[in-house]
Amino acid sequence: MSDGTQKLWGGRFTGETDPLMHLYNASLPYDYKMYKADLEGTKVYTAGLQKLGLLTDAELAKIHEGLAEIQKEWDADKFVRHPNDEDIHTANERRLGEIIGREIAGKVHTGRSRNDQVVTDLRIYCRDVVNDTLFPALKGLVDVLIKRAEGEIDILMPGYTHLQRAQPIRWSHWLSSYATYFTEDYKRLGQILHRLNQSPLGAGALAGHPYGIDREFLAEGLGFNSVIGNSLVAVSDRDFIVELMFWGTLFMNHISRFAEDLIIYCTAEFGFIQLSDAYSTGSSLMPQKKNADSLELLRGKSGRVFGDLTGFLMSLKGIPSTYDKDMQEDKEPLFDCLTTVEHSMLIATGVISTLTVNKDKMEAALTMDMLATDLADYLVRKGVPFRETHHISGECVATAENLGLSGIDKLTLEQYQKIDSRFAEDLFETFNFEQSVERRNATGGTAKSAVLKQLNNLKSQLN
Ligand code: ARG
Repeated sequence: MSDGTQKLWGGRFTGETDPLMHLYNASLPYDYKMYKADLEGTKVYTAGLQKLGLLTDAELAKIHEGLAEIQKEWDADKFVRHPNDEDIHTANERRLGEIIGREIAGKVHTGRSRNDQVVTDLRIYCRDVVNDTLFPALKGLVDVLIKRAEGEIDILMPGYTHLQRAQPIRWSHWLSSYATYFTEDYKRLGQILHRLNQSPLGAGALAGHPYGIDREFLAEGLGFNSVIGNSLVAVSDRDFIVELMFWGTLFMNHISRFAEDLIIYCTAEFGFIQLSDAYSTGSSLMPQKKNADSLELLRGKSGRVFGDLTGFLMSLKGIPSTYDKDMQEDKEPLFDCLTTVEHSMLIATGVISTLTVNKDKMEAALTMDMLATDLADYLVRKGVPFRETHHISGECVATAENLGLSGIDKLTLEQYQKIDSRFAEDLFETFNFEQSVERRNATGGTAKSAVLKQLNNLKSQLN
């Protein structure tokens, strides 16, 4: 009979495991993170066994007491790992045997395999991380973007394409653009959550449950919204992990572009914003330096999360049905991705809520040539086709440049009329940044009313 120190699957083996193989094979060093999900899964699974008459009421009560005891040990960081524990599933089962006796503990795995167990744990774990950490952290980020955008709605800045000054926009419009990306991320995560929250439990090793366990009962007990309808899929599907890591990659892509904008804006050359000391670091050599390390890390870590995704996709590719040990390689990249994403959200929230905006620098960067489109629009309003006005406005820019003037607003009415006779005195009203911005009041534009509408819309989507 087993003395509890040998491996749980040790029956058919006579030789010792190579110690290096044991280390190579063991996942407890990282999958212990799923201890709560594992205990929860066993709690509901054993209730299912009791319903089948495979456990008595008294046995079930004893098992549940033991599981609660183990949970306390993990929570208090007092769980003592045994050298032979291979993963969280074997560790918890071994410990249950020590607490309630191996006679009863030996029944909990009836009809269950680590194959349906591990993926049940993973799905519960992912669901909890999404609900308890990712959703709140992401909402926190969107909230500060919206709050800042509302408070600083009057600040104008250059909007860029190709990193060349293009048209004036509101600083709040820029803030709102990232609030929009992150709100879409939030909604996308909700869709992924719905798909991942399905129950594989009761699928056995691969072929199904031999005692007819009530899988709907197990699913309901564990808060899943449905049962995975094919036992082979139940044990081998890791698409939810791929999806979650793709989601994380896309989010990090957004955060990376957001960070890149801010890195540019906080250079001395731009000087639009200043990071707070809390999110900057100094140079060990150059005393004057204040580096935007927080932003560079947000940008840099996007590569790492992308690596988590692609690395695991490579592990998954081409492995045969159903469970193969390759799948154990899902956990480290997944955990790394989830932690990195969560921390990135928190850092970005801190950065945004503490940076200072240099309104004067932003507005000083607005130049009259950025109103060349508005000048073309001026003639459009007089009935000239846009293709023509685009050309005329370009000529005005070139003329001002050739005359060495500081901007198109410095040409005289006569000079304008020499270029096109349809220009009149009121053309000079074009040279107003505020009005340029306010003209763009169609939905999604940079006019104050349009930006406020965006912000309200985002708020209602997250509430
Ligand atoms: N630690 C394993 C994993 O993470 C648990 C499943 C083991 N199943 C098996 N048949 N060896 O995938």
